[in-house]
Amino acid sequence: MNINTKLLHAYPVICRETGASSIPKFQASTFHQSDVFKHEGYQYTRFGNPTITAVEECIKSLEDASYGLAFSSGVAAINAVLFLLSSGDHLVLGKNIYGGTYQTVHEFLIRFGIECTFVDESNVSAWEAAIQPNTKMFYLETPSNPLLTITDLEAVTKIAKTHQLLVACDNTFMTPLGQETLPLGIDIVIHSGTKFINGHSDVIAGLIATNDEALYQQLKIHQKALGGILAVEEGWLLLRGVKTMGLRMEKSIVNAQAMAEYLQQKPQIKQVYYPGLATHRGYETHQKQAKNGGAVLSFELASEEHVHQLFENCQLPIVAVSLGGVESILSLPWCMSHASMPEEERLKMGVTPTLVRLSCGIEDIEDLIADFEQALQS
Ligand SMILES: Cc1ncc(COP(=O)(O)O)c(C=O)c1O
Repeated sequence: MNINTKLLHAYPVICRETGASSIPKFQASTFHQSDVFKHEGYQYTRFGNPTITAVEECIKSLEDASYGLAFSSGVAAINAVLFLLSSGDHLVLGKNIYGGTYQTVHEFLIRFGIECTFVDESNVSAWEAAIQPNTKMFYLETPSNPLLTITDLEAVTKIAKTHQLLVACDNTFMTPLGQETLPLGIDIVIHSGTKFINGHSDVIAGLIATNDEALYQQLKIHQKALGGILAVEEGWLLLRGVKTMGLRMEKSIVNAQAMAEYLQQKPQIKQVYYPGLATHRGYETHQKQAKNGGAVLSFELASEEHVHQLFENCQLPIVAVSLGGVESILSLPWCMSHASMPEEERLKMGVTPTLVRLSCGIEDIEDLIADFEQALQS
């Protein structure tokens, strides 16, 4: 089945009982058990709910996976995965991970006696060199946020398999449509469903897919016991948003490529980071493992004055911390998504006060370019 058909037909999309053309919101905390001794259906929404089952079937089908799970946020999904680790274990992570993941590592994992090592994710041998006798997991994101650094998924998972390590990958930026990570050896793929999957900047959600039954069973316990379940209303909105994901992504990716090429020509811009540009570091690796450059790019402006000028004069993109909406979203990672990191760490990873991130929406590209043109010239 091709992707746009799959998005409309490959998981529960109609109500089996009534034929309603959208899965109803089963807005109930608990379910009546007609035979208390033999009950096998739903019991309590924290353990499972039919609307949320449809969401879990959806991510399962988009990832061509055996199992899917839904969470209250991308961070809840990430934490459910990181809770697979126990005191005394060692975790290796790419140094350019999402700020919230960095916070979990520093606020919880280290306090719980889990050792963590950050490596340059683009350097395959750095992953191998970081392995210790107690290493249990590799955790990565490619392209990374916000510098779009590329990790070679196949090479890194090969190292992990040689050492019997789990590999978890946050695939939020590329989505299941742009990068299939499970066939490359990733054990658990994570998404912030808040972003492109829902796509309308009106839901917070997290999703996981895996092919491993034991991992699924354990993550299911984490979902229930940590309590970070996806709410019914949010699940219903996500099911509505995901149907147009193929069309939205197509347009957003074309816009991102055009914006990257446009910005590259501007004298006010020192560098553009976008894996769809042949000049991007890691371009060949990205081409090998992904289907396109994605819809997010970042760029380094010449001075803080230029940053003020851009944010004060840009009219179309909303200025916000998120990404992956139908509208373009402009953000300043320095004081938004990465603000919780110490300044020294931000600078070390290349997140400077002049680095701007743009998530491309589905606007007409001529209008987006005209808006940036007037903002940069004013
Ligand atoms: C790459 C990445 N992963 C995870 C998250 C966290 O997702 P959520 O905000 O849905 O918890 C974000 C949020 O920006 C993100 O950019």
